[in-house]
Amino acid sequence: MTRSKVFVTRTIPAAGLDLIRAACDVDLWPDELPPPRAALIERVRGVDGLLCLLTDPVDAAVMDAAGPGLRVISNHAVGFDNIDVAAATARGIPVGNTPGILTDATADFAFALLMAAARRVAEGDRFVRAGRWRTWGPELLLGPDVHGATLGLIGFGRIGQAVARRAAGFEMRILYFDPTAPAADPALRAEAVNLETLLREADFVSLHVPLTPQTRGLLNRETLALMKPGAILINTARGPVVDPAALAEALREGRLFAAALDVTDPEPIPPDSPLLTLDNCLIVPHIASASIATRRKMSLMAAQNLIAGLQGEPLPHCVNPEAYR
Ligand code: GLV
Repeated sequence: MTRSKVFVTRTIPAAGLDLIRAACDVDLWPDELPPPRAALIERVRGVDGLLCLLTDPVDAAVMDAAGPGLRVISNHAVGFDNIDVAAATARGIPVGNTPGILTDATADFAFALLMAAARRVAEGDRFVRAGRWRTWGPELLLGPDVHGATLGLIGFGRIGQAVARRAAGFEMRILYFDPTAPAADPALRAEAVNLETLLREADFVSLHVPLTPQTRGLLNRETLALMKPGAILINTARGPVVDPAALAEALREGRLFAAALDVTDPEPIPPDSPLLTLDNCLIVPHIASASIATRRKMSLMAAQNLIAGLQGEPLPHCVNPEAYR
């Protein structure tokens, strides 16, 4: 029996890669950087399966370059805004993602950013390394309290709710805005509010929505202006949910106390971004799910989706089951 041919767009953790190698003929993009578009189009020609990352835009042209043999696209991420899912569905191609397994790691990290931004952890580290720590200072690097503050969660799916569970331990009041979420578990003691109320009342606003036409630019000049003076914004969702110019303005003018960003628009953040000049903006390179165990599980789930698709079986985690109809 001939083995399926797959293109894997980056080296993923060995657990998943070994599984794929045992089942398929693998063409692996070896570089640290993603394949440029022309290389992606070239390398997918004639493949049966594609395992891609959130850094790889996979649109109709990529699918057509692969040709009619392409039976599955497996994204090594829970988010799948890099894939034209409608185009995949139209071609009968199931698309897989990696939900659930990264919920807790991402929620842990959102909370780490929240605390770091409030209590100025990165600034403190820069201060010490710059040789500026001369004594204990009664007003040195002060920030707002986390415990007892109001947390506004925009998006109350798996990750938003996991952040709420952590916030409960800090005795925070929890508000959420999510028109699509089912009623919240009463044990979370989270209150559904509209977006304006959330922005006006929250001391911390944390984003947990997918990137869609509805959420692109959701935090813009107008909505940022509604935020409580001195509030803190945390983004572990997708960069384009926040308008970077409007955020830089709000931070520079001191209307917001700080922001903590795991994701930016674009990624990586351009070296001349005004956000990089602001001490009250903490920026890390899209690592919220980057725990050792979580990335291993993601590689396994992405491999299982890929292999199931190649074998003509339903993907364990499929974002477009309608592709099978
Ligand atoms: C990371 O951002 C993911 O979508 O898994």
